[in-house]
Amino acid sequence: MKQIITSPAYSLKDFRLLPGYTDERSSVNNVSLKTRLCCQKEDYIYMELPFMSAAMQAVTGVEMATALAELGGVGVLPLEASMEDQCKKVKTVKHYKAGFQTDIITLSPDALLGEIKKIIQETGYSIFPVTDTGVFHGRLLGVITDKDFDPRYDLDFPVSERMRKDVQAGVEVEDLKEANRLMIQYGHGFLPIVTREGTLQSVVFKKDLDKHIQHPHATVDHRKRLRVGAAVSTHPEDLERIKELAANDVDFIVMDSSDGFTCYQKQTLAWVKKKTNLAVIAGNVVTREGFEMLVKAGADAVKIGMGIGSGCITQEAKATGRGQATAILDIVNARDEYAKKHPYIPIIADGSISTPAEIAVALALGADSVMMGNFFARCLESPGKVENRNGRRVKEYWMEGSKKAQNYRRYHQNPDTFFEEGVAGFVPFAGSVYEVIPVSRQRLKSTFSTVGAANMGEFHEKAVLELQSMAAFHDGQIHNMIQAGGEDEH
Ligand code: IMP
Repeated sequence: MKQIITSPAYSLKDFRLLPGYTDERSSVNNVSLKTRLCCQKEDYIYMELPFMSAAMQAVTGVEMATALAELGGVGVLPLEASMEDQCKKVKTVKHYKAGFQTDIITLSPDALLGEIKKIIQETGYSIFPVTDTGVFHGRLLGVITDKDFDPRYDLDFPVSERMRKDVQAGVEVEDLKEANRLMIQYGHGFLPIVTREGTLQSVVFKKDLDKHIQHPHATVDHRKRLRVGAAVSTHPEDLERIKELAANDVDFIVMDSSDGFTCYQKQTLAWVKKKTNLAVIAGNVVTREGFEMLVKAGADAVKIGMGIGSGCITQEAKATGRGQATAILDIVNARDEYAKKHPYIPIIADGSISTPAEIAVALALGADSVMMGNFFARCLESPGKVENRNGRRVKEYWMEGSKKAQNYRRYHQNPDTFFEEGVAGFVPFAGSVYEVIPVSRQRLKSTFSTVGAANMGEFHEKAVLELQSMAAFHDGQIHNMIQAGGEDEH
């Protein structure tokens, strides 16, 4: 029967948190952000940082997924890739060893120095291993750097004439600290790692070490490999994809749909649970009915959000969607009710979360983690290009429902009647995720501390959220002053 709800749905921006009593346990340096990502067998997959990067082509590739897992969150590789390509990416993340590069430009001894000059100009790289086959996993013959030849006179010589053949390499070194020790001993800014037979395995660069050596928060599996998720659809052709992803040790799959309250998710969940051991994150839903259906069908976590992504036009195109705060609240209540008799199902808030305040409010409402597109698209490690627009550095960001993404399956659409549910555009460039995350982590810890919460459980329990008027919201923005460096008065 038709139902009309006349109370408004709220955005995350509508709420603010009241301070609670902060004791020593909840002082900033003692706060833990550890959270449950999803159920896994009798336990959970945990993360030290409650952040996921969105399953979007403009957000998560191998670089983002590895960086974010190193930093304590996790990435979800998007659906709009062939099964082979997606599995290859999963494999690359799972086999990634921090600081050990396994895919850098390699030269054959017969290549001409003129070719190297071009590569240096195009890529900015200056150190190249040389192998017998000219490909990375060949036998290491030497190394050539931009200092080993004169670009004015030597261009017609082959690499073999100028490369250094007395290269000191590490043999089967697995530990980054040991690689660092050898690098200092040998006095070079890089260290090739070879097998006992002399086959090049990886190269460690000094410049990468500081970035990689300290990752106490990394999200890893029982074999200490980084964790990664992959998006799948509920279309029958993806059953094969799901099996392949499982065979490649993906840690969990995400049913990637703008509307997860469907018989298709129910059927696919039943199939996955019967045929594999994979953890499944289902969604997206925005009502308690949607949540209840998915958990009964076996979902290991549920993702919330419809019509509120930063470049989303679903609300205009279809009139469907719900204010994110109201959607989270409705489903958290259903989840907490469910948890009285069943396992606790983690909830992921997905969409319209880009600012520190939005992250904090989504978690305070009861979400266990947040999935972000816009936030991560801004970072160096996302796949979009950095551009200069009107003097500002920006990155490309395009939604999965845009023409550019051509992800018809996520929206249950056909190419011939396609209409857009998202736009393509730009976001401000924010720098590397390795610089962005430590600050975000510290901010969030500070919020927990002000609320008086030492961990996620306490944050859910103790948070006092208050709706604020437009005028109160206005007071929370910069007002009645001209900010240094800005032109406009707020
Ligand atoms: P953002 O973090 O606010 O940019 O939102 C990202 C989220 O928006 C994704 O994780 C998806 O759930 C959702 N999304 C991605 N593409 C589209 C689209 O084209 N239309 C509507 N929602 C989208």
